[in-house]
Amino acid sequence: MRAGDGRHLYYHPVTWWPRTPGPIERRAGFDRAAPGESRTMAARAVARRKVTVIGAGMVGGTVAQMLATRDYADVVLVDIVEGMPQGKSLDLMQVGPLLGYDTTLTGANSYEETARSDVVVITSGIARKPGMSRDDLLRTNMGIVGSVTKQVVPGSPDAVVIVVSNPLDAMCHVAFDNAGLPRERVIGMAGVLDSARFRAFIAMELNVSVEDVSAMVLGGHGDTMVPLSRYSTVAGIPITELLPAERVKAIEQRTASGGAEIVGLLKTGSAYYAPGMSVVEMVDAVLLDKHRVLPCSVLLQGEYGIDGLFVGVPVKLAAGGVEEIIQIKLTDEEQAALNNSAGAVRSLVEAMAALKENAES
Ligand SMILES: NC(=O)c1ccc[n+]([C@@H]2O[C@H](COP(=O)([O-])OP(=O)(O)OC[C@H]3O[C@@H](n4cnc5c(N)ncnc54)[C@H](O)[C@@H]3O)[C@@H](O)[C@H]2O)c1
Repeated sequence: MRAGDGRHLYYHPVTWWPRTPGPIERRAGFDRAAPGESRTMAARAVARRKVTVIGAGMVGGTVAQMLATRDYADVVLVDIVEGMPQGKSLDLMQVGPLLGYDTTLTGANSYEETARSDVVVITSGIARKPGMSRDDLLRTNMGIVGSVTKQVVPGSPDAVVIVVSNPLDAMCHVAFDNAGLPRERVIGMAGVLDSARFRAFIAMELNVSVEDVSAMVLGGHGDTMVPLSRYSTVAGIPITELLPAERVKAIEQRTASGGAEIVGLLKTGSAYYAPGMSVVEMVDAVLLDKHRVLPCSVLLQGEYGIDGLFVGVPVKLAAGGVEEIIQIKLTDEEQAALNNSAGAVRSLVEAMAALKENAES
């Protein structure tokens, strides 16, 4: 487009594609297409951040919806069900004019569109069905999480991978083993959700704003999790000083069975609003380089006296993923509870190793 005096006013690199990319196109990434990726896709990827969400079910769809409203990254939704991620993406594109976001959402049944993602969120998997054994669930989700990790990482070798699929800490091991990425960039989402549940229950109990409540939950994602009441506060005051011990215990227990309480009410399926938003809080921390201190499942290598297991602990989360594992002082009782929780993760990891060995023999 030219002004009346012939000055070049606007250059649209997608429609006016030059034979050889010039400096503008190079800066925009047009000449950096990955194998299987169109040059237009490459340009977009550089121009805007990209988050891939694998599994476009209840949690994945909610992550996509809440991420879209952030308006800082495009979203690719991947699922094996044909049409479903495409349909959800199109639906969410049509929310853009209503909420005022320009996020591009793309649905796919393969991985070309995911190339050069900054963050990959893995929510694919099946839920435990009535009568299904723990090992059946493990076997199925190990297969799904392993396969999607192997497919997504080659196109996005710099991504931070956030694992959501259950059993969470075990699936972090599967993603880590298949990704070939450093431990800083394979992180499980559980502690943010468990802490949000703890915060909600504390606010409900004391009739205070959730904004003034901060809380910390450590350990594996499951009924062995360790809500740390000593470090959970209302406007800086530990809840142990605001509530009688039996109420603190009751809130801790409700937090530990927070997921099951919702499953019991929904009858089919499990929670997805709070899990979805918990993922977005982690994506915010990475894409906005916020250095948030959040409890996440990370591969411990001696921290907290635990070695070679994914367990939830507080970490500093920023652009490159986990920047630091924060070691807080625990009482003997808290450390014993954390060890017990790590023991539950170890037994899942051992069960997965046995299943793998059986499958190979
Ligand atoms: N970490 C947490 O705190 C937390 C919280 C809630 C749910 N979860 C877990 O997250 C997972 C998703 O939950 P949901 O409610 O969204 O389940 P869902 O059944 O609604 O969605 C799962 C999706 O994964 C898809 N899928 C299956 N195999 C796939 C593959 N190979 N490639 C791509 N997609 C595939 C399915 O088609 C389905 O759409 C479950 O494992 C659930 O237990 C974890």
